[in-house]
Amino acid sequence: MTSLLEQAEQTLEKAQSAINPRWYPRYHLAARAGWMNDPNGLVWFDGWYHAFYQHHPYSPQWGPMHWGHARSKDLVHWEHLPVALAPEGPADKDGCFSGSAVVDGDTLALIYTGHKFHGSADTDDNLYQVQCLASSCDGIHFERHGMVIDTPPGLHHFRDPKVWREGEFWYMVVGSRVENTGQVRLYRSTDLREWHDKGIFAEADEGMGFMWECPDFFTLGDKRVLMFSPQGMAAEGYHHRNLFQSGYLLGEWQPGQPFTHNGEFIELDHGHDFYAPQSFLTPDNRRIVIGWLAMWESPMPEQQDGWAGMLSLPRELSLDDNHRVKMKPADEVTALRGSYYPAPVRDLNNQKVLVTANAEAVEVQLAWDLSASTAEQFGMALGDGLRIYVDNQAQRLVVERSYPKYSLEGTRSIPLPANSLLSLRIFIDRSSVEVFVNDGDACLSSRIYPQPDQRDISLFANHGIASLQDAGYWSL
Ligand code: FRU
Repeated sequence: MTSLLEQAEQTLEKAQSAINPRWYPRYHLAARAGWMNDPNGLVWFDGWYHAFYQHHPYSPQWGPMHWGHARSKDLVHWEHLPVALAPEGPADKDGCFSGSAVVDGDTLALIYTGHKFHGSADTDDNLYQVQCLASSCDGIHFERHGMVIDTPPGLHHFRDPKVWREGEFWYMVVGSRVENTGQVRLYRSTDLREWHDKGIFAEADEGMGFMWECPDFFTLGDKRVLMFSPQGMAAEGYHHRNLFQSGYLLGEWQPGQPFTHNGEFIELDHGHDFYAPQSFLTPDNRRIVIGWLAMWESPMPEQQDGWAGMLSLPRELSLDDNHRVKMKPADEVTALRGSYYPAPVRDLNNQKVLVTANAEAVEVQLAWDLSASTAEQFGMALGDGLRIYVDNQAQRLVVERSYPKYSLEGTRSIPLPANSLLSLRIFIDRSSVEVFVNDGDACLSSRIYPQPDQRDISLFANHGIASLQDAGYWSL
């Protein structure tokens, strides 16, 4: 009998050759074919970075979750590996949901959520989520050890374990929902198999969501960070404008205790499409984060092409002097750079200037002198679908996408920096854009769907002058 893993491989091999490449990323990780959501089990093991991800190999729609798998030496060139986990049951018969990876001696351990319905109706009342363990010596083939933590009484939504080592213990945070309150629970173990319940680690205050997905907990500078993806936060002014958010709380922690924090939830990324980020450490101790570049219930036009979803660039986190998390492209990303082409302009006066035609995979670098720029709007455009511009009256940096054919229209924005220099690193990869502002002060990530003749990059200034200190692009 063919196993579920073999079936997945056979399906992917066929489906891969039928992919329409027009929006398929050139330097971001996406599934070979089929559906991808959250990054899972990001880890450095035995000389390789491993990225697993939520995956449905059989269609570009979400379905019974598998763990897709890829590895890389440098975080930017990825090699696909066979699907690592399939919902083979009994603990995970309806899906291998999100989770994390740790190196335990010379084995790689995956800790993930087994998702299962009791009975035939797939309703919340019949839903059980438990935490499971699998391990591997070669980092490719995994032995499944089944459930290690059962569903706590009264809970149904209990998922996305993130495990780390501290002192003599393993710790795990798990997202959960108690009635309409999002929570993170804490567990502790000495062997990854037997876990002790250490109670509620953190919990939503009024308005902070009914479910906290994908918690992650780590040290950054002199602080502790709880990063998570809350569901059910209402939009407020310029904040929380996506269906679901991802962000963090900062605070202090004594091992084994609840997390003490200041209660201020801060979004990590301000674009339309960034969710379920997960972090890991590089061998030289950099804290890197990768997220899913998509959003639940958002149209995904690439489904017509046989695939859906991609991961973000790897981003390095740091803490600035005001205790804000900064996020900039990992240094490895510069290894993608090919030739550099300076833009043919410095100052723009109520004009639009073509920089390049057919930009599929580029990094654009722009440094605007805000104090010398009077134009009402100025910035960069990709065809007629994407504009990244300064709105001078509103004093905001705006990412605007307009793909009415696919029902994807609207803006996301952030306030302009207080200093007069606005420096942008803009990464375009066929169907994505990631805008890094002032060396990591902010980031906006969105999916874009340009037609083949809508890939020209231009710079523009409307009603006035815009002054550039630096402008050019690398082909990637
Ligand atoms: C987050 C999430 C997780 C869950 C997984 C299922 O995007 O909903 O909570 O484990 O996706 O695919």
